[in-house]
Amino acid sequence: MKQLKVLVTGANGQLGRDMVHRLKKNGENVFAFGRKELDITDINRVLIKMKEIHPDVVIHCAAYTDVNMAENKPDQSFLINSYGTRNVATASEQIGSKLVYISTDYVFDGNTSSPYTEFAQTNPLNQYGKSKLAGEQFVRELHSKFYIVRTSWLYGKHGHNFVKTMLTLANEKDSISVISDQIGCPTYTLDLSERISQIIHTDKYGTYHISNTGSCSWYEFAESIFKNKKITIELQQIHSKMFENDTPRPPYSVLGDRALILNGFNKMRNWKDALVAFLSDLENR
Ligand SMILES: NC(=O)c1ccc[n+]([C@@H]2O[C@H](COP(=O)([O-])OP(=O)(O)OC[C@H]3O[C@@H](n4cnc5c(N)ncnc54)[C@H](OP(=O)(O)O)[C@@H]3O)[C@@H](O)[C@H]2O)c1
Repeated sequence: MKQLKVLVTGANGQLGRDMVHRLKKNGENVFAFGRKELDITDINRVLIKMKEIHPDVVIHCAAYTDVNMAENKPDQSFLINSYGTRNVATASEQIGSKLVYISTDYVFDGNTSSPYTEFAQTNPLNQYGKSKLAGEQFVRELHSKFYIVRTSWLYGKHGHNFVKTMLTLANEKDSISVISDQIGCPTYTLDLSERISQIIHTDKYGTYHISNTGSCSWYEFAESIFKNKKITIELQQIHSKMFENDTPRPPYSVLGDRALILNGFNKMRNWKDALVAFLSDLENR
């Protein structure tokens, strides 16, 4: 396969770091930028960097990801997720590179009980989801060679995530309450990175849903983490309304993988297998 020159934004984030790791392992020529090296809200800097490096592909992982904080700071969330993405899309289109924009299951309202296809109606419930959807709209309007990759419930070695939080809480508490009325697909960042690193070698542009397969509630996810780690702890189911923060979240945000399959890519492995692999990777790091 031809070696690609790939620029990654948000390269110090949870997905960004595994994305860079996977690309390098695949032999790509990677230019990884965190916020300090490339603040995506500064369009001039973004244009200068793109022209300087002239990548074949831009993988845009930078985002404002604090869903609860975004409710109180919607402007910050729109500045980064929407206009920051506008800047990345404008600059990468100018130099003719492909663009991968990472989006989210939170563009949906969760008012369904079967997996969302890539063509399903969006209707975000919270400011984070709205700002990410606005980012998608900029990409569609401004770019001619894009892949919008919606994913969900990410966890990986780097950064904060649900798996690590559960393992930390298990060290501190005898009993934990976990939400049981939100259903989604937990996704290992290394698995997602692997699929993205395949897609960028094709001209199969468009919107993709890429998550590990299967589905569960946060409660079932926690149960599985503790079972795998052989941790004994009292787990209690709670409903989202009883949870202290009241940011609305979709009750059902399982992503169907029609685009992956119809475009000839392999199905992602089941979330339970991915979790086992992650817990083992975490132990062996
Ligand atoms: N986490 C999930 O469960 C989840 C689910 C679905 C979709 N996604 C999407 O997946 C992508 C990656 O998420 P993640 O979990 O890796 O998030 P993350 O760990 O929070 O990483 C995001 C990175 O973006 C950087 N960033 C923030 N503002 C920036 C700016 N103005 N310029 C440049 N970089 C900036 C952050 O840097 P600082 O640390 O310096 O702020 C951080 O390193 C995002 O697009 C997110 O919306 C995430």
